[in-house]
Amino acid sequence: MLSRGEYLKELGIDVWVERATHSLDTHTQLDDESGLDWAELADRVASCTRCSLHSGRQQTVFGVGNQQAQLMVIGEAPGAEEDKQGEPFVGRAGQLLNSMLRAVGFERGEVFIANILKCRPPQNRDPKPEEVIACGNFLERQIELIAPSAILAVGRIAAQNLLKVDTPIGKMRGKTYQFSGSQHGKEIPEIVTYHPAYLLRSPNEKRKVWQDLQAVKRVLEPDQ
Ligand code: URA
Repeated sequence: MLSRGEYLKELGIDVWVERATHSLDTHTQLDDESGLDWAELADRVASCTRCSLHSGRQQTVFGVGNQQAQLMVIGEAPGAEEDKQGEPFVGRAGQLLNSMLRAVGFERGEVFIANILKCRPPQNRDPKPEEVIACGNFLERQIELIAPSAILAVGRIAAQNLLKVDTPIGKMRGKTYQFSGSQHGKEIPEIVTYHPAYLLRSPNEKRKVWQDLQAVKRVLEPDQ
């Protein structure tokens, strides 16, 4: 007999499975960041040794931008250049991200840019679930402190980990989700789009990213 999931799959219906172990809400065994201010949070990130990535980093990459931003952009993890400079999205993908933001009227310094991970994974491999969990409270507290009006998740890793699903990014695009972290009650509209590094390899997808950015604009300016 088919299970419910298999049955729905046979019918061509996507089954969204919530991931128990990849979530950001397993902060109970970790230090609690919920009451920290910006300076305390930045110190805690800078001295973090919660996962093995700390041993290979040049420095942590906390995030950059406007602490009262309307829009928060969340990517995957620092790459080599970010690890060197201590700032997210400073390589070629960062240049493209800046252009994407400008297309919807934002200068880089007007938004806040952060990543799922604050340390660079070796050879830029995908973050491991335990690394995402170890870093989760930091991002949660950043989101809570900023309380943005919208979140733009760039790339599969950010989108899947923020929304706690395994859905391919191509299927996640085109909807507005409600992000609700484990530490705060407020839901924040979240739009998913392709990672600028992917766009550099697949420039034909730029049109879709443009549509996603227009959706961000509609969320931020519903009356326009
Ligand atoms: N890619 C990311 O997801 N984040 C960065 O900071 C740089 C590249």
